[in-house]
Amino acid sequence: MRRLLPAALMALAACSAEPDAPAAPANDAAPVAIALPAETAAFPAGPAGELLTQHCTACHSADLVTRQPPLTAEKWQATVTKMREAYHAPLDPAQDRQLVAALLAVQPR
Ligand code: HEC
Repeated sequence: MRRLLPAALMALAACSAEPDAPAAPANDAAPVAIALPAETAAFPAGPAGELLTQHCTACHSADLVTRQPPLTAEKWQATVTKMREAYHAPLDPAQDRQLVAALLAVQPR
């Protein structure tokens, strides 16, 4: 056993030398502060805009909604269903008609 130890240590040293290994990154990362621009997108004032602000701005900005081309009620319903089923938006199906009406009311004409 005693005779094997130096050989084992040399093998270990050879393995851990790894001449091609990239240098470890310097660990001098300082906290960085960034200032994001203020949120300026908003639904129009009024009951339709308020309903949509309440239900549709938790995950994305209002202008992702208002910059869509004018859509039919069926297409807006499909969007609301997609938000609920694909993205797990907590939207009560009982409110779908109201949401679709609000979306039709605020969309560009
Ligand atoms: C739980 C989070 C969540 C909520 C709440 C939510 N959405 Fe979304 N929505 C998403 C995600 C995620 C995307 C995809 C974003 C992307 O592709 O960058 C998206 C995308 C969209 C788009 C872009 C087109 C598309 O079909 O992908 C529209 C329009 C939209 N949402 C409308 C709505 C409306 C209207 C409501 C409220 C009734 C709503 N969203 C609520 C998560 C949400």
